Amino acid sequence: MIEGDKHIRATPLHPKIGGKLDGIDLRENISDEVREEIHEHWMRFMVLVFPNQAISDEQHIAFGRKFGELEVHPSVAHRSSRNKEIYRVSNVDEADEIIPEETTSWQYLNLTWLWHTDSSFRQIPSLGSILHGIETTRSGGNTLFANLCESYDALSDSKKSEIQDLWVIHDHDYILSLSPELSKIPEKGDYTPMPQVRHPLVRIHPVTQRKSLFISPHTMVGIEGMSEKDGRGLLDELIEHATQEKFVYKHQWQNDDIVMWDNRCTMHCVEPYDNTTTRRIMHRVTIVGEEKPIPG
Ligand code: SIN
Repeated sequence: MIEGDKHIRATPLHPKIGGKLDGIDLRENISDEVREEIHEHWMRFMVLVFPNQAISDEQHIAFGRKFGELEVHPSVAHRSSRNKEIYRVSNVDEADEIIPEETTSWQYLNLTWLWHTDSSFRQIPSLGSILHGIETTRSGGNTLFANLCESYDALSDSKKSEIQDLWVIHDHDYILSLSPELSKIPEKGDYTPMPQVRHPLVRIHPVTQRKSLFISPHTMVGIEGMSEKDGRGLLDELIEHATQEKFVYKHQWQNDDIVMWDNRCTMHCVEPYDNTTTRRIMHRVTIVGEEKPIPG
């Protein structure tokens, strides 16, 4: 256990990624001092868990704004009708019914089961995300987080120089092509249009200065200047490397956990669960990035 502010207690959850913070009440307007201490732990652990935080959406938004402006998600169906900054990562709709599986909204949600970093389809991807587990699952539905600095560090020197100056093309609509259902139908849902963007495959974290892989299987169309086959081969190899258990923390949710992660050095995915019958309600705020990824 690490002692900082007299109230805050930090406990590592995994040797490489993830820490739990106790002694903070996120219903309160936290002071600048507490915000700084949370930020320090965040930079160290990359993923922070705050247990037992029965916060409202408005308190969730207020906490998120302590760390930056908040994004509005491009998928219109998943935005809360009350607060556009709340992205409802939920298979239960606002009328409290499980969303039918034939809808585009349900199919889009299943894409969170694939590894990704949030908003990698933006010119300036998100800095971090904060997720509130409102109604969590007991069987499946856990969230896995991979430390992309550790997986970069563990690459051989020759692999590091091979990928050093490569750029990856990212596209929001690539996500849709990965869905077994959405890829086959013309009506894919209502999204804010997003042009393709390019990001470095290796990036430097602006705060810790650590190098990391920047991979987001959701949106990576290919590698600039490489054939589709070679680009895909290299990306698949890096994804497999980065998602080894030794780099991954699996969060087993309890209701009213808040989990906050840094999108600049991690990626995540949801473990499959029976989403035709099991309810899962999660609300996310997504912090706007401050700059384009710094090439590593
Ligand atoms: C997400 O991909 O941001 C959602 C993760 C989750 O639902 O656990």
